[in-house]
Amino acid sequence: MTDQELIARAFTMHQYSYVPYSHFPVGAALLCSNGRVFTGCNVENAAYGSTVCAERTALLKAVSEGCRAGWQAIAIAGQGADYCWPCGACRQMLYEFAPGLRVLAARGDGDFQAVPLAELLPHGFGPKSLE
Ligand code: THU
Repeated sequence: MTDQELIARAFTMHQYSYVPYSHFPVGAALLCSNGRVFTGCNVENAAYGSTVCAERTALLKAVSEGCRAGWQAIAIAGQGADYCWPCGACRQMLYEFAPGLRVLAARGDGDFQAVPLAELLPHGFGPKSLE
């Protein structure tokens, strides 16, 4: 699957975003080494802090379906003029399972940037930190 195809999968998730408060839909698509793709959207809540980002929705779907290794890339699609970079909590959650992950951050017009997760979360705290 190409980066562009993964980005397209992320954009298709906007239709499922539950965003009555921010009105800012985000979609995500996580590519695993076996070719499986786990998608996600943001799901907001009246208690704002309980909101779950699109990336973590995709991550939780992958882990809860038995896929917790071999993650290649995650595409994140926002609708704004700026690239949709993952929030701190999502960076941390992704680092747990895939410190070498590629992150593709797209903006509303479809343009995107690709950066390694390690660049977004330098000196990250992960499972190895507990050894
Ligand atoms: N959001 C995501 O889903 N992923 C990101 O990378 C950034 C922010 C969501 C959370 C909230 O529903 C809305 O975007 C505005 O912050």
